[in-house]
Amino acid sequence: MPPAPTSQEVSRDVLDRVERESDRYLAELEDYLRIPSISTDPQYKAEVRRAAEFLRDQLAAAGLEAELVEHGDGNPLVYAEWLGAPGKPTVLFYGHYDVQPVDPIEEWRNPPFEPTREGDDLVARGATDDKGQSFAHVKAVEALLAERGELPVNVKFLVEGEEESGGETIEAYVRADGGDRLACDCVVVSDSSMYAPGQPSIIYGLKGLAYMEIRAQGPNRDLHSGTYGGAVANPLNALADVLSRLRDPETGKVLVPGFYDDVRPLADWEREEFAGLPFDEEEYRSELGVDATFGEEGYTTRERAWARPTCDVNGMWGGYQGEGAKTVLPARAGAKVSMRLVPDQDPEKISRAFKEYVEGMDTPGVAIEARFVHGAPPTLIEAEGPFVEAATGAFEETWGKAPVRVREGGTIPVVATFAEVLRVPVLLMGFGLPDDRLHSPNEKFNVVNYRAGIGTTVRLLDRLASVEV
Ligand code: BES
Ligand code: MN
Ligand code: MN
Repeated sequence: MPPAPTSQEVSRDVLDRVERESDRYLAELEDYLRIPSISTDPQYKAEVRRAAEFLRDQLAAAGLEAELVEHGDGNPLVYAEWLGAPGKPTVLFYGHYDVQPVDPIEEWRNPPFEPTREGDDLVARGATDDKGQSFAHVKAVEALLAERGELPVNVKFLVEGEEESGGETIEAYVRADGGDRLACDCVVVSDSSMYAPGQPSIIYGLKGLAYMEIRAQGPNRDLHSGTYGGAVANPLNALADVLSRLRDPETGKVLVPGFYDDVRPLADWEREEFAGLPFDEEEYRSELGVDATFGEEGYTTRERAWARPTCDVNGMWGGYQGEGAKTVLPARAGAKVSMRLVPDQDPEKISRAFKEYVEGMDTPGVAIEARFVHGAPPTLIEAEGPFVEAATGAFEETWGKAPVRVREGGTIPVVATFAEVLRVPVLLMGFGLPDDRLHSPNEKFNVVNYRAGIGTTVRLLDRLASVEV
């Protein structure tokens, strides 16, 4: 449990209101979670829009100027602003209202879009990623305006509906805007997790991504595997050969030529800091149900997950997948492969190297084709300065503990674009917990973390008011 606010604290008035209103704040989050805004599946287009409208209405009800921005034919962006604090810093809150697909649906204890309370956990798709976390920003601003009739700083919101499917619309929008309407002094993103329960963290590095699809084409139709097997190449066999040459099973190194050329080595201070963080390898394994960890040789689990590039098969298909046995030599096969990148790897350069390597392999009788699906550059953010100090103070007041500095293996595509185009610090302040099961069945968000996330955001805005700009 986070400690209660002290009586002399500046934010006390608003924090008391957050306490009083917390049931309603939770009920409204549940309404938001009931909208199945799955952006990767075109069938949910209308629901995705409905989530955007819900959020716009919430921001307007809180007292901001709010609208949907249609940029190209992608999902709408939700934009809102309150600019009544001239001379004070301007904060841009970013989040995403789209969510991941729900499969495997049979592993959910309750339907994914019927939010269910299990103790302090609110279980639903999108609970932590990212509806719950980013809604905490909305409620913090609402509480401040309701209590004081004004905000301590200027505030803008830009919330997208395509983060889980590559984020093309917001990328184009931010570039077209060039820091005009989106001009700000810092960006705040809550789309990650704390280091451990009770231990907040500030992330200074995210991985990038190059996501590829491989297709293997063999004969012009599925064949009898007895009549033709052994005489005609099997595209699934060929695909397996190709995939097996992506990584060295002994060293865990990626074998795509040039893959490591631009990798910035971990700094000594990072290796020391990572090693100093409490981490129980045994507990990590048992929570995941694996008997060993595995990765690139010469690096620790933390270093592998946070700061070394990877290559993983995310899915593969071909041939017979039903019950029992069907003797078939499939005509075609495919696989999806993600490469997680670190500074200074370039997604385009890496995807070209991958394509050349894979298509250049000798697979007689099977045509191999590799295609770039989507990508995002990696980011490293300056982990110091007055904005980071304000975030540190807000976390410390809320949790009674200073945040630790960490990196993360996940990707938030637009973060690199914000840093490049807006040229301001990006504060990655996660309110989730490491076991929130994002992208998995029974995703959850702890209601104590939701309330604490609102409190942290209130304290952050109050603290930012004294940053000189
Ligand atoms: N919120 C996650 C990214 C994340 C996860 C950041 C954990 C920090 C800690 C985000 O919604 C996500 O899932 N991103 C995708 C991006 C991809 C679809 C382009 C990812 O990392 O796979
Ligand atoms: Mn997310
Ligand atoms: Mn996600």
